[in-house]
Amino acid sequence: MKRILTSECSSKVGEVVQISGWLFNLRTLGKIAFLLLRDRGGIIQVVLEDPELIKQIKSVQNGSILEVTGKVKSAPNTQLKVEIENPQIKIENPVLEPFTIDLTKSDINAELDVVLDYRPITLRHPKSRAIFKIQAGIVQYYREFLTQKGFTEFFGPNIISASSEGGAELFTVNYFDNKAMLSQSAQLYKQMMVGVHERVFALMKCFRAEKSATRRHLTEATQFELEMGFITDHNDIMDILEETIKFITEKISLNYKAELELLGITLPSAEKQFPRVTFKEALQIYFERTGVDERAEIDLSPNAEKELCLYAKEQFGVDYIFVEKFLRVKTAFYAKPNEVDPLVTNYFDLLCRECEIVSGGQRINSYTELVDSLKLKGLNPNDFEDYLSIFKYGMPSHGGFGMGLERLTMMMLGLSNIREATLFPSDLKRIAAKSINQIK
Ligand code: 4AD
Ligand code: MG
Repeated sequence: MKRILTSECSSKVGEVVQISGWLFNLRTLGKIAFLLLRDRGGIIQVVLEDPELIKQIKSVQNGSILEVTGKVKSAPNTQLKVEIENPQIKIENPVLEPFTIDLTKSDINAELDVVLDYRPITLRHPKSRAIFKIQAGIVQYYREFLTQKGFTEFFGPNIISASSEGGAELFTVNYFDNKAMLSQSAQLYKQMMVGVHERVFALMKCFRAEKSATRRHLTEATQFELEMGFITDHNDIMDILEETIKFITEKISLNYKAELELLGITLPSAEKQFPRVTFKEALQIYFERTGVDERAEIDLSPNAEKELCLYAKEQFGVDYIFVEKFLRVKTAFYAKPNEVDPLVTNYFDLLCRECEIVSGGQRINSYTELVDSLKLKGLNPNDFEDYLSIFKYGMPSHGGFGMGLERLTMMMLGLSNIREATLFPSDLKRIAAKSINQIK
């Protein structure tokens, strides 16, 4: 008999079917036992009445791989509206060691550190599975939307020879006898790709040697990268970003209802227009609302970001807000200075719920201006030869953004820590979820 999915059983009432999956849980109730079997389609209930079979299955640990053959019966009160009765069960691969964390409870009752210590298994918890199902959906709809809009996906390098974002947040790699770096973003390459396809996007790993042990920083993150040519200014980039987020939100709320319900989540509201305020206005709003005066600061503090999100929600009924025109001293060398006020750049951040999820803006597209800007930031133009060549050989006005996939997932799903939205997080204490102390 051919295996079918648990989710396909509802169309087979009265028929004998074969399903395979993980033993999720077993409950006994007097002389009957209820076995829950999980596969990619869902969790189905299998009713056991044979005392011999119950005895045998009782000794099998959760997680064991089972093959169940039985008759499908209607059961309106169960998740899949059907159950399996009169089963024959083959133990394909038994679990011999019981797992220390109970995955059958509605939440894993353990500290995040413990959850990460056992990451390959705790990822199987239904809530964790729901998070990463939705994350895959976010990626799918990002691709779908931008492809529709005439963007071409590209795959940039991760081992590079020059930093794109400046600063000391770089991991170096021993590359044969040379020093290489892990890319902090696909910035330089996506700009190069504008010369090739005009509109491009990518989903790229980025590596940041940031010594920040916060709820929202990773050392290895994933960025949605986008870059497009022939723009008027950064408003065109904010427009496409806003449309992308609206599209993703709508699709997720429509197609991931079960996961959202399981997680008990309302997505951030994105229907109304996202407000756009300048960096200067943002600090003024923060001051007026809280009395905290950061108007002389050169960047937004986490508290200011949080307050601006509250402001957007209260005043505009939306969970997103753009802050634009950051100070030139605080933005990357490639950010285009504003024509009216050259002390600020045509650069923006998008905040959601409580923090930044995207940075982007218009780029400088004049060769000489770019060389001057590199020097102004203390960078050596000789290190950027390939990148600079594109500006000698034809570059339109252009701009783009970088949006953190894990940051977006965290904020969309209201998670309290970015690591919950990262399969195998690396940070100051862990490499791919594994504690550095445990790595020998
Ligand atoms: O703000 P960032 O550093 O901007 C860039 O990388 C630019 N090249 C973008 C551009 O097109 N101009 O990073 C962009 C986004 C952040 O807003 C955040 O969502 C995510 O990438 N990100 C991180 N996520 C988790 N941990 C980290 N350490 C992150 N660093 C950036
Ligand atoms: Mg940023």
